[in-house]
Amino acid sequence: MPLVTTEKMFKQAYDHGFAIGAFNVNNMEQVQAIVEACSEEKAPLILQISKGARSYADMDYLKVLIDVAVKKYPEVPIVVHLDHGDEKTAMACIDEGFNSVMIDASHETFEKNAEITKRVCDYAHQHGTVVEAELGQLGGVEEHVEGIDPHKLEEAFREYLADYMTGNRDNIPAEIVELFQSHLTDPDQAVDFVEKTGCDSLAVACGTSHGAYKFKHTPILALPLFDQVAKKLPGFPLVMHGSSSVPQELVALINRYAVLDTGNPDMLSKVAELGTAWEQMPQSMGVPETAIAEAATKAVCKVNIDTDLRLALTSSILKTWGECNTKVLEWMQAGSQGKQPGFVFDFRKYLGPGRDSMREVVRGKLHALGCAGKADLCH
Ligand code: G3H
Ligand code: 13P
Ligand code: ZN
Repeated sequence: MPLVTTEKMFKQAYDHGFAIGAFNVNNMEQVQAIVEACSEEKAPLILQISKGARSYADMDYLKVLIDVAVKKYPEVPIVVHLDHGDEKTAMACIDEGFNSVMIDASHETFEKNAEITKRVCDYAHQHGTVVEAELGQLGGVEEHVEGIDPHKLEEAFREYLADYMTGNRDNIPAEIVELFQSHLTDPDQAVDFVEKTGCDSLAVACGTSHGAYKFKHTPILALPLFDQVAKKLPGFPLVMHGSSSVPQELVALINRYAVLDTGNPDMLSKVAELGTAWEQMPQSMGVPETAIAEAATKAVCKVNIDTDLRLALTSSILKTWGECNTKVLEWMQAGSQGKQPGFVFDFRKYLGPGRDSMREVVRGKLHALGCAGKADLCH
């Protein structure tokens, strides 16, 4: 397993105003795409593995993939991190030699969250592992946590966030104040939580959510929260989750090449009814790269990205298949002359371009986060 911990990375990131990209991995193509991008861009890297990834790929396979990447790219400082762990998984990962784990008990009460987090921190620190904890819930669906509908939170943000952040709360309805209190990290509680648990970094909820459906309209985030927390916890590394930007060109590709089950009569009549208005993915916006760039200059040292790589791989596969179908269609329209174009079933022909597409997404993120060219600082 890799050799560096986040301690040095975060110190450098904090002092030099950049953030490390933390990318989720589930298979070989993802590991290759991400590590190659970091090697090309000379960037430090956090590879993170969720509980879902552990059961999908089997940790033994992921471990070997990462070991190979570490050997092949010694110039890239790599941390292996558990993403959104529960207590049992966090303890298991510490035993397996992860150099960083996240314990996410943010759905519990403050006291229970602190109690669980402290137990994990105590055990982790005995084993030389660092711990990220979370205070305040993200919208959307976390690994084992049902969050609020992100669009409901978005409406409340648009209307009342500015007042809430400046402490001007008299005109905000009580239920909205309650919503903000549970979904935005409270800076005073953050101090108390870090003191009580001994955690090494803290995920701060600032209005982001996981997945591809973050905002219906213009994204709105409580970025000043990072400064408010940093003022009370100077030098302490903060983490931003749910940071994918949901690139509209990737969503457009998915919608353009979305596969329709034309063998299903219900689907066919629905498509006829909708005409060309068929959309595989509803309109949605992510976190703009300008926002992660801004967060990176603040106390945010780690920025989590998963969805954008899923979109990159999926859109690329659909495009390869879609182009294949178009060729068959053209051949039919031309009177089926000559050899019929074949369908791509050699998966290397679509996973390969998918890997390239993920690599380009990662390269863009490394520049947005300011960590391109910073590998040497982090060894
Ligand atoms: O925060 C969640 C990450 O995107 C991981 O997702 O639990 O589906 O692997 P997953
Ligand atoms: P996205 O769904 O925005 O990529 O967030 C990923 C994440 O926070 C993983 O912990
Ligand atoms: Zn997350």
